[in-house]
Amino acid sequence: MFVAWIDSVATFVRTRTTPVLVALAAMVVGIGLSTGYASVTAATSSQQFCAHACHEMERTVTAEYAQSRHHINPKGTVVTCAECHLPGHAPLRLMGHQITALSRVWGHFIDREDLPGRFEARRPELAKKVLADFAATNARECKACHSYAILVATEQAVEAAQARRDHTSAMKTDGNCLSCHQGVTHTRQDQPASYDFP
Ligand code: HEC
Ligand code: HEC
Ligand code: HEC
Repeated sequence: MFVAWIDSVATFVRTRTTPVLVALAAMVVGIGLSTGYASVTAATSSQQFCAHACHEMERTVTAEYAQSRHHINPKGTVVTCAECHLPGHAPLRLMGHQITALSRVWGHFIDREDLPGRFEARRPELAKKVLADFAATNARECKACHSYAILVATEQAVEAAQARRDHTSAMKTDGNCLSCHQGVTHTRQDQPASYDFP
C-alpha cells in the first residue's frame, strides 16, 4: 500500500517535472520571503530601533518618553513605543504602518530631519496624524492595558474627583482616551486638550 503510494508520487513527479520544480521553487522563495519579513518586522519593532535608530527621535520624543510615567515609575513597569504605536494584533494594519513609516526614512535622508529644528518643526503635523490613528481605533492600544471598568473602580474614586466624573461619563460611550489625554508620554504639540500629563 505504502510502496504503491510512493510509486504513484514518483510517477507524478517524473511526468510533470517542470510544474513540480516550479512549485518547489515557489515554496522555497515563499518561506524565504516570509522569514525575511518576520525578521525585518522583529528588528524594526524593537525598542532599540524605535527609540534610538535616529537622532531626531532620540533628542525629542524619546527624551520625553524617558521622563514619562510610561517609562519611569515606582512600579518599574515599562511600556514600549511599539505597545502604543504598533497595531500588533492586526498583520495587515501593521504592514500599512510599516509602509507609512518609510516616509520617516525619506524625512531623515532627503529632508534632513536630523538637522536641528527640522524634525521639531514637523512634530505638530505628525502628532495630528498619530491622534487621528488613535481616534480611528478608539484608542485600541491604550485600552489593551487600561480598562474603564477597573480604572473607575479603584482609588480614583477617593483621590481624583474630576477623573472619576470624566471617566464615569466616558465609559458609558467607551470614549477615546485621547480626546482628554493628549501629550501622554510626549510634549503636547498645540492641539486643544483638556489635560496634560508628564
Ligand atoms: C502596555 C501597557 C500600556 C499601554 C499600551 C498604555 N498604558 Fe498608560 N499606563 C500603563 C501603566 C503600567 C501605567 C502606570 C505607571 C505608573 O506606575 O505610574 C500607566 C499610566 C498612565 C497614565 C497616568 C500616568 C501619567 O502619565 O500621568 C495615563 C494618563 C495613561 N497611562 C494613559 C494612557 C493612554 C492615553 C494610552 C494610549 C495612548 C496608554 N496609557 C497606553 C500601561 C499602559
Ligand atoms: C472625558 C475626559 C477623559 C477621558 C475620555 C479619559 N480620561 Fe483619564 N482622566 C481624566 C481626568 C480629568 C483625569 C484627572 C486629571 C488630574 O487629576 O490631574 C484623568 C486621570 C487619568 C489617570 C490617572 C488616574 C490617577 O489615579 O492618577 C489615568 C491612568 C487615566 N486618566 C487614563 C485614562 C484612559 C486610559 C482613558 C481611556 C480608556 C481615559 N483616561 C479617558 C479625563 C478623561
Ligand atoms: C503611552 C503610549 C505611548 C508611548 C509609550 C509612546 N508614544 Fe509616541 N505618541 C503617543 C501619542 C498618544 C501620540 C499623539 C500625540 C500626543 O498625544 O501628544 C504620540 C506621538 C508620537 C509622535 C508624533 C510627534 C509628536 O511629537 O507627537 C512620534 C514621532 C512618536 N510618538 C514616537 C514615539 C517613540 C519613538 C516612542 C518610544 C521612545 C513613543 N512614541 C512612545 C503615545 C505613545
